[in-house]
Amino acid sequence: MKRPLQLPPGVMRELANQVTEALVERSESLSGDRAWDGEFKRDLTARLMEEPPETGRPPREVIDRAVRDILSVALRLDHPRAFGFVPSAPTWPGVLADYLASGFNNNVATWLTASGPSELEAVVVDWFRRWLGYPETAGGILTSGGSASALDALVAAREAAGHPERAAVYMSDQSHSAQVRAARIIGVRRDHIRILPTGADFRLDPAALAAAVAADRSAGRAPVAVCADAGSTSTGTVDRLGEIADYCAAEDIWLHVDAAYGGFAAVTEAGARLLRGIERADSISLDPHKWFFQPYEAGCLLVKDVRTLERAFAIHHDVLQDSVWGANHPNQADRGLQLSRRDRALKIWMSVQVFGMAAFRAAVAQGIELAERAERYIAESPLLELMTPASLGIVCFRINPDGAALGEKDLDEINRNVLARVFWDDLAFLSSTSLGGQFALRMCIINHTSTWDDVRDTLEAIQSFGRESL
Ligand SMILES: Cc1ncc(COP(=O)(O)O)c(C=O)c1O
Repeated sequence: MKRPLQLPPGVMRELANQVTEALVERSESLSGDRAWDGEFKRDLTARLMEEPPETGRPPREVIDRAVRDILSVALRLDHPRAFGFVPSAPTWPGVLADYLASGFNNNVATWLTASGPSELEAVVVDWFRRWLGYPETAGGILTSGGSASALDALVAAREAAGHPERAAVYMSDQSHSAQVRAARIIGVRRDHIRILPTGADFRLDPAALAAAVAADRSAGRAPVAVCADAGSTSTGTVDRLGEIADYCAAEDIWLHVDAAYGGFAAVTEAGARLLRGIERADSISLDPHKWFFQPYEAGCLLVKDVRTLERAFAIHHDVLQDSVWGANHPNQADRGLQLSRRDRALKIWMSVQVFGMAAFRAAVAQGIELAERAERYIAESPLLELMTPASLGIVCFRINPDGAALGEKDLDEINRNVLARVFWDDLAFLSSTSLGGQFALRMCIINHTSTWDDVRDTLEAIQSFGRESL
């Protein structure tokens, strides 16, 4: 019998070695390379848009082409000077675990299809549960990331509220768009998604929240969830979690805390202090592919009472009836939107097994400390203005020389130019944000391979471009 899609073992090994070499070489040369690469659509279409070949090509050439023409034409979010958006620097055991998991291709939908990986998911989710101070009734699911976690959380919140017709959801203007999208997907009307303005501290205002809820209730709308931030993406700010939890408990509204960015700070003492109160949320999202050094896609949704997820998602399907093993044998597919699911726990487990928690704690703490050091540097520079203090690895600032009295429009233009210079000079990758309408440069310093030299060189370059732009 022909096996049209099978390769001989020798070739399998040879190709795997080629891939390993490409990855190790990339890792070795990364810090000397540029942080960003990209091309216009026209050029890439010319290079890549083609009919699929009718007969196969030599696999070594296919891999070379993938590395050169496709994979390398992208932002290197694991580059030690990639400080834009939310960097992601996976550990090597995490990368290998994804390879292993793909090779085994277990379907972690049910206990029957994947008992080992299902148990491992329970183990990893239980680690997270304890780190965040959740009770034993809590549980959850690994997801593709923060967006999927937000969606699953809001489905659970809506079901817990009895699926009201005129649902309303509340968040601040600093909340991630993933919460807005999740609210839209669960069917909350756009004008019932309350985006509450924040003040100078960029935190959800409890008084504004209470006023919005009261207005909605008196108009016959049903508040189903409040989304609070534990590390907003713009500034790393943490909402007043305890106070908001008190309010939500009194009003019987589901509290979802979006800790997709900041949640893993909980493994450090300083981070755990900042996140105090998070354990009172009904649900929490946190993303191992951000600050727990895993390859995409690794997200997690924890709920305080795991039954709330199962009530929202478990559906009996005849064709899956053999997979019901009963109590204590959870089917992960009953806890979220996916049926077929890859093994996401393995990468987290393998990297923690290989390095140990002390190393992970040190890596997370290093991000917090580097951002605080950057804050001090910025505060001391006569050329830079600190716009938000370092919080959970993020610091925002701009060029604004002492005593120069420049108008907002000029400052915006100067800072936009500086950002473009950093970008085109290949030195580092930085992105910006808008704070109360003001353009701000933003550094997110959570890569475990970034050093103070990387941070300082980037800040020095920004200042020197700033001087040239003035
Ligand atoms: C705070 C926060 N929430 C949610 C998300 C969305 O997560 P994902 O991109 O994993 O879907 C992000 C992404 O940066 C985030 O920073």
